[in-house]
Formats: sequence, C-alpha cells, structure tokens
Amino acid sequence: MKMAVQPVDHKHACDALIVPLFENEGVPVFVKPFDSQVSGQLANAFKEEEFTGKKGQVIVLRCDAAWKRLLAIGMGKKKELSSDRVRETAGIATLHLSRLKRKHVAWLLHPALANHAQAVAEGVELASYRFDKYRTSQEEKEGQLERVDVLVEKRDIARTDKAVRFGGALARVQNETRAVLNEPANQMTPMNVADIAGKMAKSHGLKCTVYGKSELQKMRMNALLSVSQGSVQPPVLVVLEHAGAGKPVIFVGKGITFDSGGISLKPSKDMDQMKFDKAGAIAVLGVLQASAELKIKQRVIGILALSENLPSGSASKPGDIITARNGKTIEILNTDAEGRLALADALAFASEMNPKAIVDLATLTGACVVALGDLAAGLMGTDDPLLTKLESAGRVSGERVWRLPLWPEYLEHVKSDVADVKNVGANGAAGTIAGASFLHAFVKEGIPWAHLDIAGVAWTTRDKPGLAKGGTGFGVRLLVELLRSG
Ligand code: BES
Ligand code: ZN
Ligand code: ZN
Repeated sequence: MKMAVQPVDHKHACDALIVPLFENEGVPVFVKPFDSQVSGQLANAFKEEEFTGKKGQVIVLRCDAAWKRLLAIGMGKKKELSSDRVRETAGIATLHLSRLKRKHVAWLLHPALANHAQAVAEGVELASYRFDKYRTSQEEKEGQLERVDVLVEKRDIARTDKAVRFGGALARVQNETRAVLNEPANQMTPMNVADIAGKMAKSHGLKCTVYGKSELQKMRMNALLSVSQGSVQPPVLVVLEHAGAGKPVIFVGKGITFDSGGISLKPSKDMDQMKFDKAGAIAVLGVLQASAELKIKQRVIGILALSENLPSGSASKPGDIITARNGKTIEILNTDAEGRLALADALAFASEMNPKAIVDLATLTGACVVALGDLAAGLMGTDDPLLTKLESAGRVSGERVWRLPLWPEYLEHVKSDVADVKNVGANGAAGTIAGASFLHAFVKEGIPWAHLDIAGVAWTTRDKPGLAKGGTGFGVRLLVELLRSG
C-alpha cells in the first residue's frame, strides 16, 4: 500500500474521503470551506442524530464529487483523544473501506490530529493485515487498499510526512512480525526462524550469527538444549546486531516454536495456540528489522532462543538437574516451564556482552494472563529508570505494560532443595513473579535488566478494533519507542 501526504484540495479524486469527527462537536471549520456539499451532508447526519461522533461510529454517504463516498469516523470525546484512540479509529475506518472494496482513499486530517499522524499511519497499516495466506479461495479474502492519501494544510506537510513515513514503516514491520508469528509449528521450526532472520539481516545490513546444536553444546547452553531434547528439531540461538552508538541494548526473546508442555504435557484444549509461544523471539526479530529501517542511532543486539518443547523417549523429565551456561544448577520440576530454561542461557550469554541494558520478552506464564488479561504485558526488573522508561514507551506506543514487584523475598520461591534454583515457584502463588525471579539468577549482577511477560498480549483470539485475530506483534512498537526516546 502506498501512503502519501498531500495538501488539502477539494478536487482530490479518490474512491472515498475519510473525515474524522469528534463527539457532539459538529462539522469542524476545517471541513466547511472544503466543500459545501460535504459539510451540508455531515451537518444533516449530526442533526438527525444518525451520527454523533461516538468512538468507532461509522457513517458512509454517497457523494457526487471527486470522491464517490464519504466516510465519517467517530473519534469520541475530544478531551479523551490519545494516540491509542487514533490508531484504533484509523483501523476501524480502514477495515470498513476495504470491506467495501475501496482501493484509493484519502484522509481529511482534522487539525486536532496534526500531532497524531504517526498513529493514523500505524492504524491504517495494522488494519490492512490479516492471516489469509493459506486460504486458497479468493472470495474469502477481503479487499486491499492500494493507496492512502493524508490531506493536510500546506504548513503541516513536512512534519506530517515524516510522521506518516515513520509510523507506516514501523507498522509494516509489525505486520511482518505478525505474519511470521501466525505461521504454525510445521511451517516455522527453530531452523526456519533462523533462515528468516538470516535473510532479513542480509537485506537490511545487519550482522547475523546462527548457533546450531553442536555449537550450543560447546557453549554449555545446557538449559536451552534440555528444552529441545524431546524434539527431532534441533534448537537454534540467533544473534542479530544493528551497528550504532554506545554499549549495546540487548533484547532477548523466548522462541518456543511449539510448546506442548513436554513430559508435563498440557491439556489438548487450545494447545494449538502454543504455536504463538515464539512471540518474544519474533518480536525481537521485528525490533532489529525496525532498528535498521528506521536508522536507530543506538547499538542494538537481538538474541532469539529457539526450540520446540515436545514429549518423547528422549525428552527431559521432571526431577532432571542441569547446569546452565553461567554455571548455576537447575532442578527441572515441570517441563512446561521451559521458556525460563531457554532464556536462562540466552540471558547469561547476553550478560557477557557488556550491555547497556537487557530487556527480555517472553510468553512466560499463564498467571500473567490471569493477572492482566490481554490489555498489558507484565513488567518486572532490577533497574527503576529502565522500568520507568518502558512504562512511558508503553503509553506512547499504545503497547501497555504494568509493573509487578520483584522483591528479594520472591527469590526464595525458586530456591531448590537439591540445586541452585528450580524452574517453578511456590504452588499457586505469584506465578509471573516466580518466572522473573528464576530469570534473575541468570542476569549478571549490576546490569540493568527488565523482563516483559507478554503471555496475554502476544496474540488475540478475537478480532480487536483494527487488529485482526492472531499474532499481534506486541513489543515491536514498544521497544522501538524505548530506543527512539533514548
Ligand atoms: N508458554 C507457557 C505460558 C502460557 C500459557 C502462555 C498460556 C500463554 C498462555 C509456558 O511455557 C508455561 O507453560 N508456563 C507454565 C509455568 C508453570 C508450569 C510454572 C504455566 O504458566 O502454567
Ligand atoms: Zn510451557
Ligand atoms: Zn512456553
């Protein structure tokens, strides 16, 4: 899809003109001089209360102008305006028009949205993706917008253009992330992810190193190796590097391409959803791609810890004791708590790279879904300034995070009777924090570290406004905002 910023022009030809309107504010002056017919029609719609401007409300009017249709989209109350609201409503309008098979649309940007052009671009792009790659029948696919123009007053063109380009590129990377995430486990093994990472790195000028099973053995990555023991698919560790200034900021992602639970087998209901257990690693892949595309100044490293988790005669068993890369011993009490094992070695490895900070992303615990649902990721860590930055990046990007404590007392929960740590916490207590407490043992003392539990936000089983069901690509916008804001 092509997106372009152009000066407001009442002869601008397109299949549909989109006009965002606030609740009970009537037709803005910006529209009135634009075209008397449009403002008349809109004023009537308001008068007859067919349309009030309520959040997400849509009305489509036929027009006899350079555009054939006019779509008014309700923005809700003006005082509630946020980038989130803009992203969502832009998505709703986009979906509506693609269902009407419109190809070329134009946004008449309300002046109040001048600072939200990035979110408009993001909303449009994010709404344009759905996972229909494996549908062979054309009819079931929806129409696709081919061109979106954003019309603004002349003086706003330069900055709007910059924001639209940034938001568009970022959301396109997020969509690519969603596409990889939506692939099922038979199409996306650890090795397949490594191949995709290698190709992406090559086309974007990133350095990429892939460590296979025998290298991981030499590197004493026994925790990651133990997770893949039950599968015919070997584990892979991918390291991506974006050149830039300063000590590296390192992102570490849990990449379990399928989590059956292993010998501690999960119930079969909804087990298909565990193809999304690679979401952390795939988000890291997206952040590295975005860092290259958006020319982020900071040096960034991405580490993807990839494995399947399956039961078999060779699988690891409850009670097994292993030694991780940093020399600590782990008692595996539940083979379904595999993400923290895969991350343990990856975090220890990251700690050796003299980083500025480490942030890991993982669909780590069902407990996090219980605590926060699908509205926010759980945030824990050791460094208050880093956590505060992530909270503010969450507000700006609309990818919300919520802090949970990581008090020293919680570290007791993962102490083992027979080894240094065990991979489960106290029964039925603070499961998400127990996961973070375990990870804490593998991050070198003194390194600012944050852990994001994205179990509830990595995918959605319902279509959200402007976001089709499936993988969400959560983390890409959040972490690019973290890097951008310095
Ligand atoms: N991948 C799961 C966590 C998960 C569950 C994510 C549901 C999204 C939805 C993880 O590997 C897991 O199974 N964790 C266990 C840990 C427990 C055994 C300590 C869990 O949350 O039950
Ligand atoms: Zn698991
Ligand atoms: Zn898992």
